[in-house]
Amino acid sequence: GSMQATASANANIALVKYWGKADESLIIPNASSLSLTVDGLSTTTQVTFHTDTSSRDLKSIHTSEECSDASATSPDTLIIDGERHQGKALHRVSSFLDRIRELSGIHAPASVISHNTVPYAAGLASSASAFAALAAAASRAAGLNLDDRYLSRLARCGSGSASRSIYAGLAVWQAGHDDATSYAEPIASLLESNGESVAAGRSAHDFGMQLAMIVILISDKKKAVSSRVAMRRSVETSPLYGSWIQSCTDDLQQAITAVSRGDVEMLGVVTERNSYGMHATMMTAQPPVLYWQPETVEALHAVEDVRASGLGAWSTMDAGPNVKVLTSAQDAVHVCEALRERMPQRDIHIHMAGEGVRILDQH
Ligand code: DP6
Repeated sequence: GSMQATASANANIALVKYWGKADESLIIPNASSLSLTVDGLSTTTQVTFHTDTSSRDLKSIHTSEECSDASATSPDTLIIDGERHQGKALHRVSSFLDRIRELSGIHAPASVISHNTVPYAAGLASSASAFAALAAAASRAAGLNLDDRYLSRLARCGSGSASRSIYAGLAVWQAGHDDATSYAEPIASLLESNGESVAAGRSAHDFGMQLAMIVILISDKKKAVSSRVAMRRSVETSPLYGSWIQSCTDDLQQAITAVSRGDVEMLGVVTERNSYGMHATMMTAQPPVLYWQPETVEALHAVEDVRASGLGAWSTMDAGPNVKVLTSAQDAVHVCEALRERMPQRDIHIHMAGEGVRILDQH
């Protein structure tokens, strides 16, 4: 027999970034972060546990090869966008599935088939949508019915940013201090529990859903330094790292205030500053990490220029050369046109606020 489920998750773009771990194996961050889940950059993943393969078979697969290659020791198979993956990618997925096996008691090998709406290598396909979808699909396939908070904790163990992709719109990942206390939640529930009211009859959820991200594609090549390595290097060697972590606390506080006021401009200003701060910590690491290309700088200036023309647009960047632009949903088309005018040769696309993770199919 087999147990199977399919789930889909959107990527998220951080407004207040997660950059650095306090615990590398559980993925506990040094600071809390805030993100916007966006549509159009998603992963759909089908997980099947092959329960007709006994755990004895599993063990023999585990030990049959002495080769240190993960493909030889993993009982699982991984196909991303039609391509079979082994080595590092499979190892990371298999370790994640081990958590599910431990939780559920289903000690069977699994096959994982994943599709991204943007190609895996495009520099935009994210570990956030991938591990959020995997957490939901694998737990359901194993017969577990986990609540969002538990799913968020689980997704976090695969990739930190994935903890936030469980939710629609704006999500806050509370740093916490251990596995049980480090999870994301919708900003609306955070504001509610803080007893904060949201401006003019709009809920924090509605405010989040009225935001958009415009992606300016600079390069679709795989990055030379992974975010995992770059953030570790920043923690260990950047003289700015301590003040970066302090500024994240201030930025998150201001961002939450901006949301509670329904103030897109205030949120945009914090978002842009926080992104530059994160890049400052990696540029001052040893050896430095510089994701920026000449075209990146051109795009950053174009965003400034669009803003000077009176439109609400604020840049943010992650661990790569691509530039993302925060704007209100209402202004998105105008901002997009203004950017295309200034960079006619570039791929520029609008991504509206998106939904959280969902189960598509289960049997
Ligand atoms: C720059 O979540 O990819 O996008 O936890 O090591 O898998 P791991 O890192 P990952 O890092 C994301 C870093 C970022 C900022 C953010 O999304 O908050």
